[in-house]
Amino acid sequence: MKIALLGGTGDLGKGLALRLAKLGYEVLVGSRSDEKGKKLASEYSQIAGVEIKGFDNATASELCDIAILTIPWEYAFDTAAQLKEKLKGKIVVSPLVPMKKEKGYFDYVRLPEGSAAEKVASILESKVVSTFHSVPAERFADLNQKVDWDLPMCGDDKEAKETIAEIARKMGFRPLDAGPLKVSSLLESLTPLIINIAVKNKMHDLTIKFI
Ligand SMILES: NC(=O)c1ccc[n+]([C@@H]2O[C@H](COP(=O)([O-])OP(=O)(O)OC[C@H]3O[C@@H](n4cnc5c(N)ncnc54)[C@H](OP(=O)(O)O)[C@@H]3O)[C@@H](O)[C@H]2O)c1
Repeated sequence: MKIALLGGTGDLGKGLALRLAKLGYEVLVGSRSDEKGKKLASEYSQIAGVEIKGFDNATASELCDIAILTIPWEYAFDTAAQLKEKLKGKIVVSPLVPMKKEKGYFDYVRLPEGSAAEKVASILESKVVSTFHSVPAERFADLNQKVDWDLPMCGDDKEAKETIAEIARKMGFRPLDAGPLKVSSLLESLTPLIINIAVKNKMHDLTIKFI
């Protein structure tokens, strides 16, 4: 199965690329620049010990079965719109967290569409699954770190959600179905909450477990 990480050259993309490639998935690192995509893919290959390929985002979208939008939320919607045709009918994962820094804390940014994932779904003709919001990128990219963390996910396409849940399960997560895409704002808004708790309580790289 070919998984494209659009904007996979950044913080969250790194951990996903390393872990998915080690599990045997064909990872396509996408970038605005084909050269940067190939450079980072080569660096990731060295770390993972398996081949990871790099492309521009359009080529990665064309070649993939599943795409994960690992792009800052402010820019992800324009990128999605540009790739609409290439992503048609495919599973697209939104880990997007719309948030902004206020004085001394982060707040969730409420979009008119309800959430970032719903906005992505309104742009694309793809099966959108919303998840990975609560994954701390740096800790996740450390392959010595066991990721036995809970991973809430939501989406309207049951099969697509189960496909992503199975991939997440193989990485070590406990995927948890949180409902339809309509509840995505609840998942997305966990991230500013987690960051605020970490900052205020001098904790690092927090994630979640429901016990
Ligand atoms: N970091 C985390 O811990 C974390 C955790 C959970 C969810 N998330 C979510 O995951 C997404 C990615 O986060 P991140 O921290 O990995 O982001 P990031 O490192 O800041 O950026 C990822 C990539 O986005 C691309 N990019 C930057 N500006 C762009 C633009 N104007 N247009 C198109 N692409 C652009 C860049 O790739 P190229 O220069 O190669 O094109 C960059 O390497 C975000 O939506 C975030 O909310 C992050």
